[in-house]
Amino acid sequence: MSNVRFFGGQQFPLEMHKVRIIQKLNLHPIEKRLEAIMGAGYNTFLLRNEDVFLDMLTDSGVNAMSQEQQAAMFRADDAYAGSATYERLHAKLTELFGMEYFLPAHQGRAAENIISRVLVREGTYVPMNYHFTTSKQHIVENGGEVVELIRPEGLDVVSDEPFKGNIDVPRLRAFIEEKTPKKVSYVRMEAGTNLIGGQPFSLQNLRETYQICKEFQIPLVLDASLLADNLYFIHEREEDASGMTVRQITAEMAANADIIYFSARKLGFGRGGGILIREEETYKNMRGLIPMFEGFLTYGGMSVREMEAITVGLDETMDIDMIDQGPQFIEYMVRELDNRGIPVIKPAGGLGAHVDAMRFVDHIPQSEYPAGALAAALYIASGVRGMERGTMSEARDAEGVEPLADMELVRLAMPRRVFTLSQVNYAIDRLDWLYQNRRHIGGMEWEEEPEILRFFYGRLRPKTDWPNTIVKRFRADFGDSL
Ligand code: F0G
Repeated sequence: MSNVRFFGGQQFPLEMHKVRIIQKLNLHPIEKRLEAIMGAGYNTFLLRNEDVFLDMLTDSGVNAMSQEQQAAMFRADDAYAGSATYERLHAKLTELFGMEYFLPAHQGRAAENIISRVLVREGTYVPMNYHFTTSKQHIVENGGEVVELIRPEGLDVVSDEPFKGNIDVPRLRAFIEEKTPKKVSYVRMEAGTNLIGGQPFSLQNLRETYQICKEFQIPLVLDASLLADNLYFIHEREEDASGMTVRQITAEMAANADIIYFSARKLGFGRGGGILIREEETYKNMRGLIPMFEGFLTYGGMSVREMEAITVGLDETMDIDMIDQGPQFIEYMVRELDNRGIPVIKPAGGLGAHVDAMRFVDHIPQSEYPAGALAAALYIASGVRGMERGTMSEARDAEGVEPLADMELVRLAMPRRVFTLSQVNYAIDRLDWLYQNRRHIGGMEWEEEPEILRFFYGRLRPKTDWPNTIVKRFRADFGDSL
């Protein structure tokens, strides 16, 4: 039975929870918003949250917790070593994923650091469905090369393909045969493929990939940070999985991987991370790095309170009523944007709605960061903070050449169970206004460009005075309203 609970003529999504704790928000006048984004070097990462109305930057560490999670935090055992909190988290992970060994880490990229240091050998390749910024950086730092083998429809911005996160299985086989298995450190599959719009892979695709990995004795590493969304989509969209519970799908996914790592800022509605490992030898190879970089083996840099919340959050992730709010709100937002002719990635994925800046501001060349410019313009017009996911998020190569991203996206993340539908409607309405005024948005250039992960803290400036033009147009249309 499908769990999609849209109702009414307009097909509103229906939440299966109520809100019992709130945080007051600020909506500054547009002039103050312009000042704030100027102060932030036109980089939404550098805005102060106080100046943000709807924070759609990310879903990382900002999802709403349940009352059971909050209650569990009170019983955290803060022993440095051998804490009962660790035992409970370990037991839950083993119950859900069927892997015996677990190493805690303070967040997802910390797990990537450990995995890359142990598994990536100089001059080898790491094929994957698609890269994530931090995972790529760690692989490259350790002398490896990322090879993306996403199926072509994954990069097709408008498609009705339900599993755009699928890896191209025949190309994976051909690649391994061409390079030879010993030149491949591991194969990485990312659930809910982040940078192409939170798109899922199918259970069948994972099974086929794992078959190849086993045949060539190459480890399969599953990035489960966005697993909750991927589980939802397999549950809703995959015929082969019909009749399977979320718990069964989770077990089946885990049975088709050798190592599973995750950011618990996403999976488990908490803040932390970790690595699950099937084989003892690999576990022992990684173990020593935890006390070196993270913390003792029974907390790994996480707060024990967060660990308790994650244990409960993981269990709640197995309940479709607890994980469907995100994807259903996103589906609603994507549908409403699409109805207004606003270019958006289709079908709706997890994580958030992804506006296609390549089409929205098609007059801005990629070298002037259309997605970065659109994210800044949207903040000015609405106080909504999104995130650039395009060329700004790429890194220059050794020769200083800047690769142009496959896609130029503005991600409007949907922190789970955080926003109301009226707030989502507000974001849609302002995007609609901005789309009518899109010709006034201009390009950007770097004022300060850091070498590593530049999108996080680099500063830009507009190439013309377009931000002021946006403010003037806004005042002309909205009078003195906010
Ligand atoms: N893998 C995926 C698929 C992610 O989305 C992230 C984080 C990480 C790994 C790294 O985890 O942040 O806990 O170190 N994504 C965040 C985002 C940053 O906003 O999409 P982390």
